[in-house]
Amino acid sequence: MLQLKEIYYQPATSEKPILKNISLKSANEHPIIISGPSGSGKTSLIEIISGLATPNKGRIYWQNQLIKQSKRISMCGVVFQFPERHFIGLTISQELKIGHRRISGELQTEILKKVGLGNVPLTSQPEKLSGGQQRRLAIAVQLIRNPEILLLDEPTAGLDWSVRDEILQLIKILSKEQQIIIITHEPELFDSWKVSNYKLLNGVLSKSIY
Ligand SMILES: Nc1ncnc2c1ncn2[C@@H]1O[C@H](COP(=O)(O)OP(=O)(O)O)[C@@H](O)[C@H]1O
Ligand SMILES: [Mg+2]
Repeated sequence: MLQLKEIYYQPATSEKPILKNISLKSANEHPIIISGPSGSGKTSLIEIISGLATPNKGRIYWQNQLIKQSKRISMCGVVFQFPERHFIGLTISQELKIGHRRISGELQTEILKKVGLGNVPLTSQPEKLSGGQQRRLAIAVQLIRNPEILLLDEPTAGLDWSVRDEILQLIKILSKEQQIIIITHEPELFDSWKVSNYKLLNGVLSKSIY
C-alpha cells in the first residue's frame, strides 16, 4: 500500500506552491488514478512519488514503512508522457539495456513478451514500431528494472482508439502484479476498473467521485 501524507512542494524556481497538503492512499493495491487539468501539478506529483523531485514537506510510506527519496528512485519506474520521443537506442535491445548493460537476451525477451512484443525481433529499430508498440516498449524499459511501483503519465495520450484499448488492457494486466499510478485527462476510461480515484486542481488533491 502506498500512502502520501501532507506533501507540500514549492521548488525554488516557482513563486507559488505547486502541490499543497497532498495526502492519498491506495486501496487494496488497486491502481491509483490521478486526473486534473493541465498545470494542476500531476507530473510534479509523479516526480515526487518517484523520488525525482524533493518535496518541502510530507512523508511517503510503502507497505506502512516510511520510504526516503533515494529508495523511491530505485523502487519506482516512471513512463513519462510521449516516452517514444525519448528513445535513444538504435535497436529494441539497446533501448532495454540502457543503464543495464549486462541484461541477458533471455530477460529482454521475457519482458517483451510481458508487454505483448514477444514476436518483435530485439534487433528492430524503436522508431520503426507502431505507436502502440512504442508505448509497450517504453513500459518494458521500466519493467526491466523490476519496479515495485509503476507510474504512467498520460499513458494513452495521442493514441488511436483501438490502440488505446490495447494499452489499457496491458496496464490492467500489469496492475495485478504491481502498484500502478496513472495520470490521465480521462478518468472515465477507468470507470469499470477497481481503482482509487483522485482529482488534482491547482495543487490540491481530492478524492474523486468517479
Ligand atoms: N520546477 C518547477 N519550477 C517552477 N514551476 C514549475 C516547476 N515544475 C512545474 N512547475 C509549474 O507547476 C505547475 C504544475 O506543473 P505540472 O506538474 O507539470 O502539471 P501537470 O502535469 O498537471 O500539467 C505548472 O504551472 C508548471 O509550470
Ligand atoms: Mg503533466
